[in-house]
Amino acid sequence: MMSDELKRKAAERALGLVGPGMRIGLGTGSTAAHFVRALGAEIRARRLDVIGVPTSEATHRLAVECGVPLTTLDETPELDLTVDGADEVDRELRLIKGGGGALLREKIVAAASARMVVIADRTKLVDRLGAFPLPVEVVAFGHPATRLKLERALARLGLNGHVDLRGGEGAPTRTDSGNLIYDCRLGAIPEPERLAGMLAEIPGVVEHGLFIGMCAEAILADTDKIDILTAEQVRGSG
Ligand code: A5P
Repeated sequence: MMSDELKRKAAERALGLVGPGMRIGLGTGSTAAHFVRALGAEIRARRLDVIGVPTSEATHRLAVECGVPLTTLDETPELDLTVDGADEVDRELRLIKGGGGALLREKIVAAASARMVVIADRTKLVDRLGAFPLPVEVVAFGHPATRLKLERALARLGLNGHVDLRGGEGAPTRTDSGNLIYDCRLGAIPEPERLAGMLAEIPGVVEHGLFIGMCAEAILADTDKIDILTAEQVRGSG
């Protein structure tokens, strides 16, 4: 089964978590897009009364196209459920997100939700986070100084990977909030909690792509089965 089919399979399973009247955070990326499309179809077929908060301008456009009624966190600051993709998921349900550049809004929306569920094909499940470059969103002002602080913080943790400005110096990528992204190619992150704490302390860092203690459930689709990892299982095995 192609990866895109697996993404769709995970998204369709997540639809089962949606109930009438729910306020739903809509993630960003190719897997989350399957969920938005499936939700739109469900709304049309069952006249389902739900409302969504998109995590990016791209998801906003898609949701409008699919007929998903939208609100904002200004109007609706508490959500019931967020369904989003991830770049990596480990067995403790820690995530790397932000490959699509939407990590800031994704984290705000997930934090506003009673429950965050990740949907992915099973290749996103890793033994250790860090093969995927960790995105760090920074304000444009003084960003070379922020980069130095970032590199030094990584070195203090013994992480000596490359830190690359997304899009390159000539035409850096701007996020939906007008910020820049540094992708940290680390290879492996032995202590994600410690790294998250250090990144949060750097002035100029707006947010980083480590989502820790936020994901309640991961729906991981494989060709012949769907694996569900839950926070309860993680606590039980700890
Ligand atoms: C967007 O910023 C990311 O956090 C995405 O959730 C992540 O990149 C997963 O995208 P795919 O579903 O396209 O793999």
